[in-house]
Amino acid sequence: SGLDGKFKAKGKKFWGSCADANTLNIAANVAVLKSDFGQVTPENSMKWDATENTRNSFTFGGSDTLVNWATTNGKQIRGHTLVWHSQLPGWVSSINDKATLTSVIQNHITNVAGRYKGKLYGQSPSPLYDHWDVCNEIFNEDGSLRSSVFSNILGESFVTIAFQAARATDSTAKLYINDYNLDSNNAKVRGLVALVNRVNSANKLIDGIGTQMHLGPGGAGGALAALTALAAAGTEVGITELDIQGAAPNDYTTVVQACLSTPACVAITSWGVSDTNSWRASSTPLLFDGNYRPKAAYNAVIQAL
Ligand code: XIL
Repeated sequence: SGLDGKFKAKGKKFWGSCADANTLNIAANVAVLKSDFGQVTPENSMKWDATENTRNSFTFGGSDTLVNWATTNGKQIRGHTLVWHSQLPGWVSSINDKATLTSVIQNHITNVAGRYKGKLYGQSPSPLYDHWDVCNEIFNEDGSLRSSVFSNILGESFVTIAFQAARATDSTAKLYINDYNLDSNNAKVRGLVALVNRVNSANKLIDGIGTQMHLGPGGAGGALAALTALAAAGTEVGITELDIQGAAPNDYTTVVQACLSTPACVAITSWGVSDTNSWRASSTPLLFDGNYRPKAAYNAVIQAL
């Protein structure tokens, strides 16, 4: 019973939600996380500005809270995120030479992924999974690399640098590349798949592709084509930040059916439990209402599972 239980019964890894100290302090929210979700993603607490806002001075208060809660409650974890142009401290964005930026990326990943090595993995229930979003939102809509300090200074090589550092730090983790608007078989999907193929043909470093799926009404229509195109890279695929403006039951069941009918689609993570705590609160995109009660979309998803 529950979303996660029913999804696992279909052979999938988990159905999770983002969380952090602010939502883990709400009893009604925690009750739903316990009953319906099998995994948590730190919504903000593992990002660069939260963990290394000052160079080589690491702060893990928020992320430890999330990891300890998950460990205590037997929930799996997706680490999120190691290299991202957003929520990035200014001292990183202003680095302008290759050697410094390379060692800064390596040091960040060694420390952050190193702290949680085995903790993301070593908990019940079994089988256990440990995911890291190593690179986040690195593409333009046309499939080219987005301008950021990482691509501007290092070109595409920052991707391999980051994945190699993550692999060296946590050899058992599934290492993901994650992005948004991968919601149909579009140019961004094709650019991402081409990059995954280039990196993995040299050295199989990328284990998974995350499609965030922050959708608008009707936006689920391309989900099956997107998942199919992403799966062609030969990695597993996760829906990592699902929310749908308006939360129409049909839109939600379309996404669920797309994942169920794509063997490579291994997991779904909702980007929150209740609309009231959503980063898109005004579009009421989640499965539970402001009082943490299941919405029509929740009931439709349960029926579809
Ligand atoms: C969002 C959080 O939900 C907000 O609380 C924060 O203010 C901004 O970031 N893509 C991502 C997530 O990969 O980390 C973002 O999370 C949403 C978009």
